[in-house]
Amino acid sequence: MSKTKIAIIGCGAIGNTHADAYKQDERVEIAYAVDLIAERAQSFVTKYGATKAITDAAAAFADPSVTAVNICLPNDQHAPMTLAALKAGKHVMCEKPIALSLEEAAAMQAEAKKQKKQLAIGVVNRYNTYVNMAKDIIASGGLGKVYHASFSFKSFRSIPGLGGWFTTKKNSGGGVMIDWGIHFLDLALYALGLPEPVSVSGVAHSELARNMKDYAYTSMWAGPPKYEGVYDVEEFVSGVIRTKGPSINFEGAWAHNIDKPSMYLDFIGTKAGLRLEYRKGFTMYGSENGNLFEKTPRAKEINDFHAEMRAFIDSCGDGKPNRAHIDNVIISQKVIDAFYRSAAEGREAVV
Ligand SMILES: NC(=O)c1ccc[n+]([C@@H]2O[C@H](COP(=O)([O-])OP(=O)(O)OC[C@H]3O[C@@H](n4cnc5c(N)ncnc54)[C@H](O)[C@@H]3O)[C@@H](O)[C@H]2O)c1
Repeated sequence: MSKTKIAIIGCGAIGNTHADAYKQDERVEIAYAVDLIAERAQSFVTKYGATKAITDAAAAFADPSVTAVNICLPNDQHAPMTLAALKAGKHVMCEKPIALSLEEAAAMQAEAKKQKKQLAIGVVNRYNTYVNMAKDIIASGGLGKVYHASFSFKSFRSIPGLGGWFTTKKNSGGGVMIDWGIHFLDLALYALGLPEPVSVSGVAHSELARNMKDYAYTSMWAGPPKYEGVYDVEEFVSGVIRTKGPSINFEGAWAHNIDKPSMYLDFIGTKAGLRLEYRKGFTMYGSENGNLFEKTPRAKEINDFHAEMRAFIDSCGDGKPNRAHIDNVIISQKVIDAFYRSAAEGREAVV
């Protein structure tokens, strides 16, 4: 059987995770590892068995034997690189967030439709076993009527790569909301069965690293700090989302002055409530026959990144959009756009 040849563009942090997942899939050949930094691309040859290491994606796009492209680049390159790959006739898996704006995301969606190619987004939580168990419980009425959901994605002092692309708005599109918040928001909407969003009222604060050299931290992924760089994004957010189904509220921080990290989602129903610890398990709380109960199921865990990549390769083969297809995910970008509009204008924004 001939293998599906793919190109991975961006051999940084998440590029490694994707390459590792593809390495486990016997149907796939990583035909090209592409990174502007030649050593990073080259490292994929030894680590993951990539066939070629190159620094310009154009050569991979021009190779007709390449079926699919995996985009693991800074956020501002998601739209241009996805459009170029689709126009070259490739299926695309693009990391989250879809793009810097809804306008860009809609252009990507339209191009995928025009080219009749798959366009999947890196919403890895949709492949998490516990998330899908929780989703099934909600859908089958196990919590009764779910009238509210709430999520928290707060860390003490972990702004990523201070001064680098993560904290430079023109490259990232925003701070903690577009980086971490998008994962939690997408997970909540997915688990709730994609209720139609109506409006968002949000606030975004950028306080702790205004003077970058004064910012003290406990950890810095994507570091070290580049003090000559830019910090013009938010590190703290809060908001309320109205939908045609449950109401949703959230609070998130890359950094804030409370050293109590909290990463969870609550789903509140009339019969029971469910707390999902992010990327971990969940507990249900409720009452039955006059007695209170607490249940913590244990799942046979699967690696969600492996499942995500396998599903992408399946969809390239059978042409069927999967749960990560842009048509199913663009809802999250709509809410993110409304959130940033609301925060900038200081009032509720219609989705
Ligand atoms: N799904 C997840 O859990 C998850 C986790 C981390 C990051 N991400 C997303 O993945 C994307 C990449 O994040 P990261 O942390 O891996 O970033 P990173 O900075 O570690 O890696 C990006 C890489 O892209 C390379 N690059 C930049 N422009 C290029 C170009 N034009 N051609 C080729 N290579 C180029 C850089 O040299 C770098 O090696 C972001 O959009 C981020 O939001 C998702």
